[in-house]
Amino acid sequence: MNVQVFKSAEQMGKAAAAMFAAQVIKKPESVLGLATGSTPLPVYANLIEMHKDGLLDFSKVISFNLDEYCGLAQTHDQSYYYFMRENLFKHINIRKEAIHVPSGTADAEAESAAYEKAICAAGGIDLQILGLGLNGHIGFNEPADDFAKVTHKVRLTESTIEANKRFFASADEVPREAITMGVGTIMAAREIIIAATGAGKAEAVAKLVKGEVTPQFPASVLQMHGCVTVMLDEAAAGLL
Ligand code: F6R
Repeated sequence: MNVQVFKSAEQMGKAAAAMFAAQVIKKPESVLGLATGSTPLPVYANLIEMHKDGLLDFSKVISFNLDEYCGLAQTHDQSYYYFMRENLFKHINIRKEAIHVPSGTADAEAESAAYEKAICAAGGIDLQILGLGLNGHIGFNEPADDFAKVTHKVRLTESTIEANKRFFASADEVPREAITMGVGTIMAAREIIIAATGAGKAEAVAKLVKGEVTPQFPASVLQMHGCVTVMLDEAAAGLL
């Protein structure tokens, strides 16, 4: 794994955005894999700035997000679709029909199969960004006995509900299920950036980089991928 440590989350954001920019400049019709959560926000802010400065054209880009809460419509202000629209899509010139976020309201089984097909039809993901869950989850692939291969419906763990309740009025309002790309879907991306910032992530980062490869800490599987960049601020790199 290529581990890169930056002074701050802002600097990490600039550097990861530069990797996305290089990808889109090199291949304007790139297929980008995107994540929600706090970690990629500085990345998206920098991509928006580069687009506004006339440096980046997203008109041919196709995107696939990792996951979505079950039961939330695209218009719900806590849905991941809404998050992506507010924090990236509405500020750049990506085509609406090129945006893919799994539907949280469709039949999960049919939606999962259709999502896998759509990624395949687009030619696979060129560059995927991931955040890191405290328990090692990537997308909503929670610790389990096996690595999930494809897009599927999951039950969220208490630790994830606890971590995500900050965005809802109370923990009771956090949906209990989600639809997520599988670990196999993620591992099929040609290149992956996994980003983590803040001291709270330091232990998870150490397991990601130096721990045993096990489905009990799903992100550890990235050690087996040939093209992964781990992008950290100094606090998140504290235990390396
Ligand atoms: C988001 C996602 C999650 C987050 C992870 C870290 O689409 O799939 O795996 O990346 O929970 O979240 P933050 O960045 O908020 O710490």
